Amino acid sequence: MCGIVGYVGPQNALDVVLGGLRRLEYRGYDSAGVAVLADGGQATAKKAGKLANLEKALADSPLPESTIGIGHTRWATHGGPTDRNAHPHVSADGKVAVVHNGIIENFAALRSECEATGIEFASETDTEVAGHLLAAAYEAAPAGPGRLAEAMRAVSSRLEGAFTLVASHADEPDTLVASRRNSPLVVGVGDGEYFLGSDVAAFISHTREARELGQDQVVEIDRHRGLTVTDFAGTVVEPAAYTVDWDAEAAEKGGHEWFMLKEIAEQPQAVADTLLGRLGEDGGLVLDEVRLTDQDLRDIDKVFVVSCGTSFHAGLIAKYAIEHWTRIPVEVEVASEFRYRDPVLDRSTLVVVISQSGETMDTLMALRHAKDQKARVLAICNVNGSTIPRESDAVLYTHAGPEIAVASTKSFLAQIVACYLVGLILAQVRGVKYADEVAAIVAELQKLPEAVAQVLTQMEPVRELGRSLADADTILFLGRHVGFPVALEGALKLKELAYIHAEGFAAGELKHGPIAVIDQGTPVVVIVPSPRGRSLLHGKVVSNIQEVRARGARTIVIAEDGDDDVVPYADHLIRVPRTPTLLAPVVTTVPLQILACEIADTRGFDVDQPRNLAKSVTVE
Ligand code: F6R
Repeated sequence: MCGIVGYVGPQNALDVVLGGLRRLEYRGYDSAGVAVLADGGQATAKKAGKLANLEKALADSPLPESTIGIGHTRWATHGGPTDRNAHPHVSADGKVAVVHNGIIENFAALRSECEATGIEFASETDTEVAGHLLAAAYEAAPAGPGRLAEAMRAVSSRLEGAFTLVASHADEPDTLVASRRNSPLVVGVGDGEYFLGSDVAAFISHTREARELGQDQVVEIDRHRGLTVTDFAGTVVEPAAYTVDWDAEAAEKGGHEWFMLKEIAEQPQAVADTLLGRLGEDGGLVLDEVRLTDQDLRDIDKVFVVSCGTSFHAGLIAKYAIEHWTRIPVEVEVASEFRYRDPVLDRSTLVVVISQSGETMDTLMALRHAKDQKARVLAICNVNGSTIPRESDAVLYTHAGPEIAVASTKSFLAQIVACYLVGLILAQVRGVKYADEVAAIVAELQKLPEAVAQVLTQMEPVRELGRSLADADTILFLGRHVGFPVALEGALKLKELAYIHAEGFAAGELKHGPIAVIDQGTPVVVIVPSPRGRSLLHGKVVSNIQEVRARGARTIVIAEDGDDDVVPYADHLIRVPRTPTLLAPVVTTVPLQILACEIADTRGFDVDQPRNLAKSVTVE
C-alpha cells in the first residue's frame, strides 16, 4: 500500500530515492518523506500530501549530499496523513531511520514496552515502534559486520502482521537493511550500487537486475560487503535472481495526459500479450507455473473465484465462461467476505484468485484460507513474483505490463482473457471440449486485440458525451449475462474517478425496486448483448431500455455494429465491433473506461490518483 525506496551507492542518494518515489507514488500519496545519512547522523524531510509537497520543501531547505538514503510514500493506516506521521521515523537516540509498508498488529503492546523505558513517541503510527526497537536491538547486537542486520532479524521476529521495513543506522554509513513479511520488497543490483523498492519501478531507470526476497527474510546491502539475505533465524539464503523485462519508458506516460489513458491505449497489446505463447508443443493450452497435475484438474468438482474490486468483476465474467465451457459449478465471491463465512472447500475445489498486484491482503488471506482447507489454488496475476502467485499451486500471468494509474483498466481486460483461458484449459484437460472446439474459441480470442483497437479509434463521441455528463448526480449502468459485470465495472470506474454516485444493476432487477430512482434526464448506460445467437437475451435488454426511457431516462446504449433494434431507444449510441457473447466484455468495457476518465478530467480531478485510494491494498 505504501511505496518504499532505498539506495546505497556512489550517486547522490536523495536524487535516486526521489526518482524512485516518483514512480511509486501510485502506491499511496498521503505523505512522503526521505532520510539520508550525513555527518554522522540522520537528515530527514517529510511532508503530508503528495510528493510535490516534499520536493518543494527540499527545494527550500535541501538535505546534504549522501551515498545512502531511504524514502517512503504513504497510504495512511495508523495515524492521519500528517507531517508528524509521515515516514521515515527516527529512533529516540536519533540513530535509526525506518520506513514501513503494512500493519504491525501487535504495535500497541510494543509501544507500551518502549514507553516503559522512557521513550516518548513522536507519532501515532505503528511504524515508530520498529525504529525504537531497532535502536535497542542494535545496541544489544554484537559489534562488527552484520550488526544492523542482526538487529533487524531480532526486531522482525517480534512483529506480528504485515511489514516491509527498510532501515539505516547513523553508525553504519554504508549499510541498509530490510525485512519483509506479507508485504512486497525487491532488490535492484547495479554496478557498485544497490536499490530497494516496493516494486521494480523504483529502480528500473538504473538497473534491470533484480533479486526476489522471500517471506520472512532480511536483506543487508552494503557498499563493500555486497548483498546478503538470511531468514529471521540468520540462516543465509540465496535470493532468486531475475532480469526485469519492462523498460523505464513503460513506466512513463508515453505522451498521454494521464497514465490511465496510456494504459487504456495499451489494451490491445495487453490482451495480445496475455494470449501469447499459450499453445504448448502438443497443441494444448498451458499455464505459466503449474504445481498441479492434469489429474488434479480432472478431480475438480467445484470452482470458487475470489478477488476484489475490478478483479472481482473479472471473476464474475469467469463464472459465465467456466460454467458454460466445463459444466463445473462456479461461485464468485469478494475476498474480504470469503474466509469469514466458512466456505465449503476440499481437495477437489479449485480456488481461482485474481489480483493485478498480487499483493492484495484480502485476496492473499482468502488464498491462505483456501490452502488451509486443502483446496487447490490457481492465481491470475499481473506482477511476476508477487506474493499471491508465489503462494499458489498454479499461475497464469496476465502480461499487461506495469499499471501505474490507480484505477485498473488494461489489467482488467487481461484478467478477463486469462479467465477464458482457465475455462478452456479446464475444458481441455477434462475432455469436455474437443480440441477443434477449443481452437475455434482461441481463434475468436485472437481477434480481440483488433476489436479493442477498433473501439479505441471511435471514442471521440464518447469523450464528448463524457463532457456533457460532468454535472450528473447519478449515473446508472445496466446489463444482463456478461453485460452485468461490465455494468458493475462501469459504475465502479465512474465512482472512483469522478466521485459521482453510480450503480450497476442486472437489467432485469431494475423493475424490482431501483427503477424508482430514475427521474427526468437520469443518465442510464445500457450494455446490450449481441442480437446474434442469444436473441432472447437481446430482446429482454431492448425492453429494459424502453422501460427506463419511458420514465424519463437519458439512454446511453452500447451495442454491436449492425444492431438496429436499439436505434429508436438510444439517446446516445456507442458502437462496438461484433464479438461472440461470452467474449464481449473485452470490448464493451472500453467505452465505459473512457467515459469515466473524461468525466473525471472535465470535473478537474486527478485521474491517475483518485482521492482516498491506493493501487495496492495491502491491509485487510
Ligand atoms: C479499481 C481497482 C481496484 C482493484 C482491487 C484489487 O479500479 O483497481 O478495485 O481491482 O483493489 O486489486 P488487485 O487486482 O491488485 O488485487
